Amino acid sequence: MNHSEPPARLRVGLLGCGTVGTEVVRLLLTHRAELTQRAGVELELSGIAVRSLDVERDPVIPTELLTTDAAGVVDGSDVVVELLAGIDPARELLARALAAGTTVVSANKAVLATDGPELYESAEANGAGVFFEAAVAGAVPVVRGIRESLAGDRVTRVLGILNGTTNFILDEMTREGSDFSAVLARAQALGYAEADPSADVEGHDAAAKAAILASLAFHSRVTLRDVPTAGISDITAADIAAATEMGFVIKLLAIAETGPDGLAVRVHPALVPLDHPLAGVHGAYNAVVVDAEAAGTLMFYGAGAGGQPTASAVLGDLVSAARLHVSGARPPVESRYAALPVVDPASVHTRYLIRLEVADRAGVLAEIARVFAAHDVSLETLRQVATDEGAASLVLVSHGQTEAALSAVVAELGELEPVHRVLSILRVEGH
Ligand code: HSE
Repeated sequence: MNHSEPPARLRVGLLGCGTVGTEVVRLLLTHRAELTQRAGVELELSGIAVRSLDVERDPVIPTELLTTDAAGVVDGSDVVVELLAGIDPARELLARALAAGTTVVSANKAVLATDGPELYESAEANGAGVFFEAAVAGAVPVVRGIRESLAGDRVTRVLGILNGTTNFILDEMTREGSDFSAVLARAQALGYAEADPSADVEGHDAAAKAAILASLAFHSRVTLRDVPTAGISDITAADIAAATEMGFVIKLLAIAETGPDGLAVRVHPALVPLDHPLAGVHGAYNAVVVDAEAAGTLMFYGAGAGGQPTASAVLGDLVSAARLHVSGARPPVESRYAALPVVDPASVHTRYLIRLEVADRAGVLAEIARVFAAHDVSLETLRQVATDEGAASLVLVSHGQTEAALSAVVAELGELEPVHRVLSILRVEGH
């Protein structure tokens, strides 16, 4: 995109016109004069590609711009704003734009976490840019924070709550003591969770965002395949009650950190100490804690989803893209020079909380402690709650251990006569 004369206007093509697209149009039209001042060029909405023209839309949408010809919108734009859900046809349309040297602004974490590397390479080869602040944590400026503000520092860990639906569900379970399924039904009724909530509750949405943030923070390629993922559907009211009793709250965390062998990225529910900043993130909010060598610990917090917040991030990217277009400068390219190997997070040391149902009689604690000692797993805390009929519930928190060592302990505990059941095993993070 080289221009000797600054262009008078920038044609913005929109792919998708759902909740976020509608708010992008509203901001583009109602803030037109301010955006022109900030971008240095008029942002002109040139086309809106939709799947069907027979859908009732917000009156703010200029119906004359609606079309089902998405490729035509791409070809007729200077910047493409892609707000489609899922990989197809988004991947093909983004590839088409970039091949033509057209910069894209995307909110599509699924396609970026899966096909990002190919798209970034095409962008670089063709002098185009890929902007994606809205793909991770909605309005929260964590992509720019990591990519630009921390460009001079070394990030050592990223720890985030990247899915609002699951944070809402866990938060309600914690407040009310209710079970997962009851709160999920409410989250669906409130429109937080999708009718098919698996991408949220099984952790896949957070994993896509984790892959994107890990790539940026560690200047390496991380895709969705590199992120072992567990969701929250097995978390019970009893897990939450035990966590509360031990001074923790359960959150679905996305974690990316470097170790001696490379970069480990994972998504799973974890206990967070009540005094950790992520413990105070309630409802459907998102937050990301970034540790960097020089900056120390930073926290990014705000609305991670929703039409207006996500549109805010899209417009910010659009203004950045427009400024570059006006100046004729090359957009930022993918930073992958560090090329850290992505390692199995099972090698990372983590604390664990283990809940056991055991016989309530003399010598049981000693037997259990012996198993931990035999595997060199040190215990930090232990609490016993008497239940009924001679059974007790034991809650143990270990010091940092690998998953392999912990699994060996749990396997042996399961063989002990006084251990009736291993009720749950959860990681403890945020120390
Ligand atoms: N479904 C996501 C969430 C929002 O609940 O946070 C879009 O990424």
